Amino acid sequence: MPQRSLVAVYPGSFDPPTNGHLDLIARGSRLVDHLIVAILQNTHKQPLFALNERIEMIREATSPFPNVEVDSFQGLLVEYAAARDANVVLRGIRNMADYETEAQMALLNRRMRPETETLVLIAREEYSFLSSRMVKEIITLGGDVAPFVPASVSKRLEHRVSTEQ
Ligand code: PNS
Repeated sequence: MPQRSLVAVYPGSFDPPTNGHLDLIARGSRLVDHLIVAILQNTHKQPLFALNERIEMIREATSPFPNVEVDSFQGLLVEYAAARDANVVLRGIRNMADYETEAQMALLNRRMRPETETLVLIAREEYSFLSSRMVKEIITLGGDVAPFVPASVSKRLEHRVSTEQ
């Protein structure tokens, strides 16, 4: 059988990255040869963390994984995947609501670029209720986010909230 190398893009907003994202990166990195975590430079949404901060946080948290790279993109995901010669888009789903969104994106992406296959991993049970949006709400309301995000992300969140109030 001819060997084909698998290059995957794991796209997202990662504002901020959570333990759920990190689990997906760890599991995805074992399935492919090279995994590019690609942060969307979203011009519509006002993110809590600037792009360079999100890049730094994910680089810190993924340093143990030698085949993981952190990058950013703007515009269409399939065009970025083509530019990076990626043949896989990696995404995670936590529940049926995620399934509907992800199925729609995967079908649209496949119609636009059939060469890229979407690989969906089911989130681990302990992260199935976790989202970046909820993490931001908890920290803003004075809660402890340490169980939900990497330690360096938790420190940055606490610092951000304390300097904003
Ligand atoms: O972390 P998120 O916000 O769930 O990630 C969503 C993301 C970045 C995967 C999605 O919005 C995306 O791919 N945006 C790029 C623009 C694009 O290609 N849109 C068409 C997708 S069908």
